[in-house]
Amino acid sequence: MAIQIEHYAGREQAYVKHTFLDKYLPSLIGKVCSRYDEFVYIDGFAGPWKSNAGETFDDTSFGIALNHMTAIRLRYLAQGRDVRMRAILVEKDPGAFAQLTEAIKRFPKVDTFPICGEFESKVTGISALVPHNAFVFSLIDPKGFPDIEKLLPLFGFAHCELLINFMFDHANRFAETGLISRLERWLAVGGGPNWEARLKGLSGAEREAEIESLAVEGLRKIGRFTYSPVISIDKPSQDRTLYKLIYFSRHEKGLEVFRSSEAKALEVQAQVRTSLRDRKREERSGMADMFPGNADIDRSARALADGAVEGRRHLLQILDNCGTDGQNWGRLWPVILNEVSITKSRLGLIINEARKSTPLKRRIGPVSGIPSRVTHN
Ligand SMILES: C[S@@+](CC[C@H](N)C(=O)[O-])C[C@H]1O[C@@H](n2cnc3c(N)ncnc32)[C@H](O)[C@@H]1O
Repeated sequence: MAIQIEHYAGREQAYVKHTFLDKYLPSLIGKVCSRYDEFVYIDGFAGPWKSNAGETFDDTSFGIALNHMTAIRLRYLAQGRDVRMRAILVEKDPGAFAQLTEAIKRFPKVDTFPICGEFESKVTGISALVPHNAFVFSLIDPKGFPDIEKLLPLFGFAHCELLINFMFDHANRFAETGLISRLERWLAVGGGPNWEARLKGLSGAEREAEIESLAVEGLRKIGRFTYSPVISIDKPSQDRTLYKLIYFSRHEKGLEVFRSSEAKALEVQAQVRTSLRDRKREERSGMADMFPGNADIDRSARALADGAVEGRRHLLQILDNCGTDGQNWGRLWPVILNEVSITKSRLGLIINEARKSTPLKRRIGPVSGIPSRVTHN
């Protein structure tokens, strides 16, 4: 199954989000299942929501997850290993819930637990459904702001990762207005009762970075997560952030998978936004465009290119700070990937390139297993 852009007309941002999930989930589940006997997927706001893929629901988060969980379970079964797969799917709307319960019948290899109701009020019961030694991935993808305090038990599982959608555009407009108490309470988790003071006098990119930090930091500390990188999903037709997918992990392997899935999602975002701009231009002019736009200059493609430059800068800074001591690749890459939007393989390439200058050669060893060209497929 591959997700198809045709199913996402008018909601291209969901295509970018699902591209991330479609790349991230199989890598995560494949890796986790070599160690854990059970994988649990929790989708708190499962939908289906604006699905156009018919009965397959391939354009929904639960459809993507259940497809991959089925494929990986079968793969392991063929190798003689039975890894249990459990999906806990919560949906509030009764009509959508009826579609959900019908759709999951297609996935008999996964133990599915559909629950109708408000996710926030179901969390305690859901925790009881998670086996002690399972690895848990939770997707929290509401339309607005969830009642975040009630979701905190999900951050406490011993072995878990989470992806949470933060409606940045709304947050940017409504923070400090006092109009959305759930938003204010979320930001207070990160910034304490005086969180508003941190936004004072800020605008544009600085304000965006500070709101993001308020949204991430408290949750990261509560869950004792080491890594909390964020993907900005843009409005399809404007150079503005629509929402942010915040990822929490305690394991560097998760960070590695996150960055390569993010790169794929940002590539797709650049392509989709460029095609939309082309189409709008054609509609305005009434003529086929002889010079289609260049996706490499879209701001998400530029974010990837900037990540490579930043990655190199971080590397040189770390090496400068450690004097004549050498640096170990295994310790270095997670530090840089946590801060910078760059894949592990691209960073390895940069290091191997940088080692051609002799002073660096002595301070960091070659990185093996890196292809000479990086792709995100
Ligand atoms: C943004 S859509 C989810 C999209 C889905 N994660 C995907 O990517 O395909 C949000 C869904 O959550 C449902 N919903 C809204 N509030 C909810 C709540 N408090 N608890 C559970 N579901 C809720 C809505 O009916 C809607 O189907």
